[in-house]
Order: sequence, then structure tokens, then C-alpha cells
Amino acid sequence: MAEKSKRAQFVTRTGVIAATVGSAVGLGNIWRFPYEAGMQGGGAFLLMYVLCVVVVGLPVMLAEFAIGRGTHRCGAGAIESLAPGSWFKVAPYIGIVASLMILSFYSVVVGWILEYLYQSVVQLFDPAPVGDYSARFGALVANPWRTVGWTLVFLAMNYAVIARGVEKGIERMSKILMPLLLVILIVFCVNSLLMPGAGEGLAFLFNPDFTKVTPSMVIGAMGQAFFSLSLGMSCMLTYASYFNDKMRLMGNAVTIAGLDTLIAVLACVIIFPAVFSYGMTPEAGPKLVFEILPAIFGRMTGGPLWAVFFFVLLFFAAITSTISVTEISTAFFTEQWRMRRKGASALTIAIAAVFGVPCALSFGVLGDFTIFGMTVFDLFDYVSSNLLLPIGGILLSVFAGWVVDRKFLQGQLMANHDCPRWVVTVLRIAMRWVAPACIIVIFIYGLM
Ligand code: PHE
Repeated sequence: MAEKSKRAQFVTRTGVIAATVGSAVGLGNIWRFPYEAGMQGGGAFLLMYVLCVVVVGLPVMLAEFAIGRGTHRCGAGAIESLAPGSWFKVAPYIGIVASLMILSFYSVVVGWILEYLYQSVVQLFDPAPVGDYSARFGALVANPWRTVGWTLVFLAMNYAVIARGVEKGIERMSKILMPLLLVILIVFCVNSLLMPGAGEGLAFLFNPDFTKVTPSMVIGAMGQAFFSLSLGMSCMLTYASYFNDKMRLMGNAVTIAGLDTLIAVLACVIIFPAVFSYGMTPEAGPKLVFEILPAIFGRMTGGPLWAVFFFVLLFFAAITSTISVTEISTAFFTEQWRMRRKGASALTIAIAAVFGVPCALSFGVLGDFTIFGMTVFDLFDYVSSNLLLPIGGILLSVFAGWVVDRKFLQGQLMANHDCPRWVVTVLRIAMRWVAPACIIVIFIYGLM
């Protein structure tokens, strides 16, 4: 018990919402979602994505919330305390592997953002024409020093924040910056909607073409749902372990999923009209957003200033996500290996730095080095989101639905009059049957 009362807690409800939304909203919404949707048929992908969020995402999120808040322990500790000796303890280990992979490739993308931010600041003072966007991005990612350098700079920043502890670092930053991000996204949406290709962009996004529904697309949509909602790796579980007993789990889960999806859709409303207006193709992959954004800024009055604003906010959206990713293994190392917090976060960052380097080089020097036909970057991205997170999700959902005592789950979900009993019954069925079955069916369908 002594350990329990020593644990940090989020102090306010807005702090909780801000931190969990901060974890969910990040490059997953603004970089990964548009590029996945672009490659996989636009509207049909969006539709599949929303289905995955509702049918699989929400039950898994509530499973994680209930386990975390009910035990106030990190992933492995929580499972051990609810079912001693149970092999479900592998779930948090899968989560730790996934989190280290995600931290590695994610930091590379944040590195690109830092470079773009730097270039936008330079442009503020020296407004030279930007030139060919694709060539510009190609030159950046092929430059080993810059990409590796920025990746490491970012990891160091991440360390500086997380080593200071949960509450101060995370809560304060995300409370102010997330609403600002929403505002700037809306401004950019209006700008994009005034472009000549707006109609075509919106049609691509909102008119589903069902011939595009393929096995790999459905796996992609599910992986994206897990990635974007920060699920399947005990991240939301670990955050929920910092919730106090007054927080309403159901209300928070719906708010997070809603805001997260809204921001992903807004990002697409910004990107696709521009893609069609500038005659670019939506299938460009991870570089899509980075090639389109400069074109968008180039068209706006005061473009470089908007760019600086935008990249600063995107940077903060990203760092609130990476902080939560870092927190998973940091909490594990401190609670299970009894490391000090500083040492634990340093270890996490060091591992991510080692793997971050080959990810950063994947678009240049290591561009031809492929495993299963994928570069290190693509492999980390694919394996973590499309395989490890859904597998972790099945385990956590089955654990909450089958292993955990029904009263425990009810107590957590119904606390503070959050939802009536029938909702808990529906959710429990979703955790026991629907979510795991959907994930398994999608896997089998995808492997066929
Ligand atoms: N959800 C975050 C994003 O969309 C990324 C993330 C994945 C964070 C998994 C934590 C855990 O950017």
C-alpha cells in the first residue's frame, strides 16, 4: 500500500483528458492517417477505420482503463495483482517491445518536423522560393547527418521531459497546446477548402469506393485504430493507473476516441484538397504530408509564419504522444526492475536511439536494405501497429472480459454513475467476444 500512495496521480479531470488525448493525438492522426488513407483508397479506409474504432477500439480502451485504474499499477504489475502467475503477463511485454519500436521510428518523423520547423524559421527571415517540394524532402531524408541528428535531438528532449515525472511535465503542456492545435487545424481546413481541388479531395475522402476494401486495407485500418488510440501496448492502462477514483472511464474513452477521429479527419480535409489541387498523388506513402504541407503554406499569406506555428504545435502533439510511449517501459523498469525513474527513462531512450538510427537511415543510406521487402522504418511501423498492438489488444480485452472478476469490471465501469448496467453488459460481451473475434478474423482475412 505504501507504494500505492506514493504513486503520482493526475490532479484534475481536464488534466486526465488532456494527457490521454495528448497521447492519442499525434503524428498518428496528422501524418500516418492521411498517408494510410491515401494509399488505401480514401473513403473506404475512413469507413473501415471508424468501424474498427467503435467495435474494437472502444472495448479495448475500456479494458485497459479498468485494469489500470482498478489496480494503480503498470501493465505487468496490474496483471500480476489481478491474476497472480497468469500468462497474460506477456501482454505488457509485447507492449514494451511495440513501444520501443514505435518510439524509434516515430522519433525519426518528429526529426523531420524539427527540420521543417527550422527551415520555416529561416524562411521567416529570408523568404526564398521553396522550389520542388518532393526534391526538397528527398534531399532531407537522404542526408544521414541531418536525419540521425534530429532524431537524437528529439529523443534527448523527450528524456528531459519524462525524467521530471508524470504530472508536471505532461499535464501542463498538453492542457494548453492541444486546444490550440485544434484551432490551427480548423484554420488550415478553411484554407484547403478554398482550393480548386477541394471537391475532388473531399470526394476522395468521403465517397467510399468499396472495390478498395481488401484484406491488407482492413488490417491497415485496424492497425491505424490501435496506433492512433494508443491501444494494445498497455499505454492507456499505464495512464489509467494514474487516474483517481473519481474519473469516469466511459466518458473519457468516448471523448478520446471522438477527438482523435475528428483530428484525423481534419488532417485529411487539409491534405487531400491540396493533393488534388497541386496534381500530386494520394498514394505517396510516409512522405505525403511532408510534401504537401509546404505547398499549402506556400499558398497562404504569411506562409512561413503559419508554418512555424503549425510545426510547433505538431511537435507538441508528437511529444505528448512519445512521452506516453516512453512512459510504458519507464513505468515497467521502475516498478518491476526497481530502477530509479531517471535511469529507467534513460534506458528507454537509449534503446530507442540505437534502433532510431537505422530507421532514420531507411530513406537514404539504408534505402536498399530490406527485410521481408520492407525498410527498417517500414518494418518497425508495420510490425508494431499492424501486428503487435492488435495482439496486445486481444490479450488485454480477453483478460478484462474473461479473467478479471465481473464485479471488478462493473465497479470500475459503473463508478461515479458513468454508465448504466446494461452498457457494462454490452461492453463485457464486446471484450469477451466481439473485439477478439474481429481482430482474429481480420488477421486471418489479411493472411489469406
Ligand atoms: N497515438 C499516438 C499518435 O497517434 C501514437 C502512440 C501509439 C502513442 C501508441 C502511444 C502508444 O501519434
